[in-house]
Amino acid sequence: MSLRLGDTAPNFKANTTVGEIDLYEYLSDSWGILFSHPADYTPVCTTELGKTALLDSEFKKRNVKVLAVSVDPLDSHHGWISDINETQHCEVDFPIIADDEKRVADLYDMIHPNASETTTVRSLFVISPDKKIKLMITYPASTGRNFVEVLRVVDSLQLTAKHSVSTPADWKQGEDVIVVPAISTEDAIKKFPKGVNIVKPYLRYTPQPQD
Ligand code: BEZ
Repeated sequence: MSLRLGDTAPNFKANTTVGEIDLYEYLSDSWGILFSHPADYTPVCTTELGKTALLDSEFKKRNVKVLAVSVDPLDSHHGWISDINETQHCEVDFPIIADDEKRVADLYDMIHPNASETTTVRSLFVISPDKKIKLMITYPASTGRNFVEVLRVVDSLQLTAKHSVSTPADWKQGEDVIVVPAISTEDAIKKFPKGVNIVKPYLRYTPQPQD
């Protein structure tokens, strides 16, 4: 059965490059990013894992733990990590699941047979601390993901989980946000003391609330 936003992220145990991991124990009360790669020793995947490693401090700042998965075995992952570190000038220290039996790939519906019968597409799930699926993106093998965009979505998810706001197109940290339609303008003015800019009754902006 395929997963949908708001579903509970299925738990699993898996062998990884840092030992056996239980997803829920690994994530604990952090946010999580679970993302698949079609295969080891492939060029686009090499750049994606390198980029993820280089953004380590950005993930940590947001209390996000990352977990990669590909259907290749552990010894292949270890050899490939050396290549990633060498070519991408990084230190991959997040776990990569050795999913050679495709258990995680099947659980998260990462194999799309009309794209490839044997390898995963580029699936990415953001999981909230209560283990709900908050974002799902799927890219083809030929297109590397934009991990700065993934961080931007995490920022939006974390902000909107705390405040009654949404984030507009192309929003970035620090920019104005949108007051959710469920709040009346009268209440919005009380709730957002930095001000409410009413462009239309349904389109109301306020400065980004701080924690
Ligand atoms: C890549 O990472 O470059 C790649 C992997 C599988 C199929 C095509 C490209």
